[in-house]
Amino acid sequence: MWKNRNKLLIFLLWIMEIRLVSSFTSAICSRIPGLTPQQRQLCSESPDALIALGEGHQMGSHECQHQFRGHRWNCSQVWQEGVFGHVMFVGSREAAFTYAIASAGAAHSVTAACARGNISLCGCDMRHKPNSDSQSWKWGGCSADINFGMKFARKFLDAREIEGDARTLMNLHNNRVGRRLVKNLLKTECKCHGVSGSCEMKTCWKSLPPFRQIGEVLMRKYKRAKHVHVKDVNGLKQVLRERNSSRELKRMELVYLQKSPDYCERNVQQGILGTTGRVCNRTSSGTESCDKLCCGRGYNTRQVRRRAQCRCKFRWCCDVTCDVCEENYEEFTCK
Ligand SMILES: *[C@@H]1O[C@H](CO)[C@@H](O)[C@H](O)[C@H]1NC(C)=O
Ligand SMILES: *[C@@H]1O[C@H](CO)[C@@H](O)[C@H](O)[C@H]1NC(C)=O
Ligand SMILES: *[C@@H]1O[C@H](CO)[C@@H](O)[C@H](O)[C@H]1NC(C)=O
Ligand SMILES: *[C@@H]1O[C@H](CO)[C@@H](O)[C@H](O)[C@H]1NC(C)=O
Repeated sequence: MWKNRNKLLIFLLWIMEIRLVSSFTSAICSRIPGLTPQQRQLCSESPDALIALGEGHQMGSHECQHQFRGHRWNCSQVWQEGVFGHVMFVGSREAAFTYAIASAGAAHSVTAACARGNISLCGCDMRHKPNSDSQSWKWGGCSADINFGMKFARKFLDAREIEGDARTLMNLHNNRVGRRLVKNLLKTECKCHGVSGSCEMKTCWKSLPPFRQIGEVLMRKYKRAKHVHVKDVNGLKQVLRERNSSRELKRMELVYLQKSPDYCERNVQQGILGTTGRVCNRTSSGTESCDKLCCGRGYNTRQVRRRAQCRCKFRWCCDVTCDVCEENYEEFTCK
């Protein structure tokens, strides 16, 4: 079950090798471990997009850990288990978030790499090409080719969902939410031209949202994720809402199949690390409070000394000088 653990590392090492090898051959794609045949095919068609996928994976991982810092489940281990394997065993809300943000990361980074000119198969979105109509603005610059990014992310990430069971449908749905979110959050940016910024003429382009924004929106979707089940409707498997199957599922909702465990105790079979040893906050009332994070087991207190800047002075002009002081503080960790 844990055999995928080192795949990301291997993958990243391969990516580094790809960067070094100037004449890239599909032979290298055939040597990356854990790819499905379809992923291998995509790799040999566009090895440069694979580099972007690796960056997207990093971005998704950092953002997931940022959004879940101080939660019992903190997204720390899932990303080590491989880009290409099943990243979580339980079809929980947390799995829904993980798949969505990984998929958003892939779409975002491939699209960004297209715009930078790093992928030979794509570039700027030419449907937003300069028009010469007598408008007060026109498309100009490089619009993000989000459709290419979404398509590539879909082909690559959906390719591993081959079992055709309920979990497959859940993953495919959440993957789609992640990809589409990037598109829905595209911004239009403009630049003014004209005498001393008079803005007689504007050129505008579509640009990618900051990834932090995607993380924040997905976090809100995580909190409102819908419990679903999968049912045969006229011979077609469909994702339906759990309690009230007549209410339709909205396209942009995250879905999960199983209630989350409490993540309190370590359970290797389910890939749960437990919260023993986690740093908690005694005065806060949020998820990071010792009460909640330690699941009522209590906490240990220890004195920590650290060096910090202190007695900072502003000196005209423009310099700040500080002393280095040692300070004591208490650190609390879950029993
Ligand atoms: C992507 O493009 C930028 C600028 O064009 C370049 O500096 C960078 O090295 C490229 N990265 C990769 C991974 O090809
Ligand atoms: C679904 O919920 C609505 C109101 O919440 C209720 O009127 C309806 O009967 C429910 N349908 C089913 C199939 O449970
Ligand atoms: C996340 O949780 C794991 C296991 O409980 C812990 O080892 C790790 O330090 C935590 N990460 C952060 C950023 O708190
Ligand atoms: C603990 O939580 C309180 C209240 O939310 C906050 O003011 C404080 O900075 C936190 N302490 C640490 C070490 O994060």
